[in-house]
Amino acid sequence: MADFDLSVNVFGYKLKNPLMLASCELGNSGVRCKQAAEAGAGAVVTKVISREEVVRKEYASGPLSPRTYVVRNMGTLVQVSGVGFLTARDWCERELEIAKEGGVPIVANFKAGPQRLRPADEHLPTFGRLYAEHDPKVWQRELKELEEAGVAWFEFPEGPPERTAYNARLRAEYIDRLEKIIYWAKEAVSVPIVIKLAYRYPADMVESAMKVEEFGADGLTLGQGNEGIKIDINRGTLVGAVPTARMNVNGREGFHLWLKIIYDVAQNVKIPVFGCHGVWSGSDVIEHIMAGTVCSQMATCPIIEGLGAFQRINNEIRDFMIRKGYKTLIEMRGIAHKNIEAKYGLKASVVEDLCNGCGLCEIVCANNTMAFEQSTKGLQAPYIRVDSSTGKAKVNQELCEGCGACRSICPPRAIVIQGWDPV
Ligand SMILES: Cc1cc2nc3c(=O)[nH]c(=O)nc-3n(C[C@H](O)[C@H](O)[C@H](O)COP(=O)(O)O)c2cc1C
Ligand code: SF4
Ligand code: SF4
Repeated sequence: MADFDLSVNVFGYKLKNPLMLASCELGNSGVRCKQAAEAGAGAVVTKVISREEVVRKEYASGPLSPRTYVVRNMGTLVQVSGVGFLTARDWCERELEIAKEGGVPIVANFKAGPQRLRPADEHLPTFGRLYAEHDPKVWQRELKELEEAGVAWFEFPEGPPERTAYNARLRAEYIDRLEKIIYWAKEAVSVPIVIKLAYRYPADMVESAMKVEEFGADGLTLGQGNEGIKIDINRGTLVGAVPTARMNVNGREGFHLWLKIIYDVAQNVKIPVFGCHGVWSGSDVIEHIMAGTVCSQMATCPIIEGLGAFQRINNEIRDFMIRKGYKTLIEMRGIAHKNIEAKYGLKASVVEDLCNGCGLCEIVCANNTMAFEQSTKGLQAPYIRVDSSTGKAKVNQELCEGCGACRSICPPRAIVIQGWDPV
């Protein structure tokens, strides 16, 4: 047996690793879910399962286009989310059986309550009222059928709908809605219910998360698209110009923003937290775990890089564990809450054998340009500089403030800051 173990126990399932496919088009059919599982996902979330009237309407007019903009070198994908083209009936009659051939738990991404017909409908002031009047029996029946067909658990994407006009009244309506759907879902099925929250201010997220736990949900997914827009400068229009002027910004841009929310929420709830948004490497997953998650989900990375990302990232997690001597993921879970420390007065130094003279450290050291500091101290030397005679970077030990910028950017990791060794 290997002396490290990537597996995760969640809701009675043993996942072979903590990396899941997040709900997106890569999970929009049984075959695609199976492919993601075979590529190395520990569990797979389906594309949102739609109600018949939504699919009918989408087919009638065709989907909104254009609605997706990929900034490859930034790992960013800006989009107006499309609907899923498969209904609960499609998944029950056909797709789930195929999806399960991948041998990992299949999680159903399910929109409880009334489903919007077009992205623009989200903005309607009547949305909250529609919700209150909606008959839950319609979707409770679908939940039951999906449970019988073998979904492992449900994930409800539950952002506040009228995000651009968010205010105290809508917030109260939103919390009320969360309570209702959790109650109705629990009435209908016994598999776990996970609520996936959209972005708000961190303090607000913690409060919503605690409410979700209090209402009886079994888990939380943290990391939907952040609110943003894309402008087509040739035509001078918004891309995906629905009346809300709102798109989802997914991928790297939001990773650290969500990490903070994940960290804060994990500290305040006992139910499992699934981290999402911008996951691109083994170290991202480890940061999630150290912040307190059980698993990490990703959509943009495998969309841009391909399904090979699952194997690559799992290898990176494994290599990290071997290097640091971790045997299980549990040893790392939540440790960033305990290991709070602040260091002062550290200095950078260069391991000359590793330095290739690229000069990136010289550019990134913001202190190199601190003329004021230098003149008041009467010092002319830069903090860090590639020495023209040796071709190697050299740190001015007197000036260096150990800020870490050069350490982070140095490609061969030739810079050491004693006592600070981030991956
Ligand atoms: C093309 C695309 C389609 C998506 N569709 C859904 C969806 O149907 N349901 C859902 O809850 N989230 C959906 N999402 C959001 C993702 O599940 C995820 O929360 C978000 O993209 C952030 O993660 P990422 O940075 O790894 O992409 C979608 C994202 C993308 C990029
Ligand atoms: S220390 Fe790193 S960043 Fe600086 S010149 Fe050497 S290799 Fe480049
Ligand atoms: S640690 Fe900060 S201050 Fe010191 S050389 Fe590197 S970038 Fe400059």
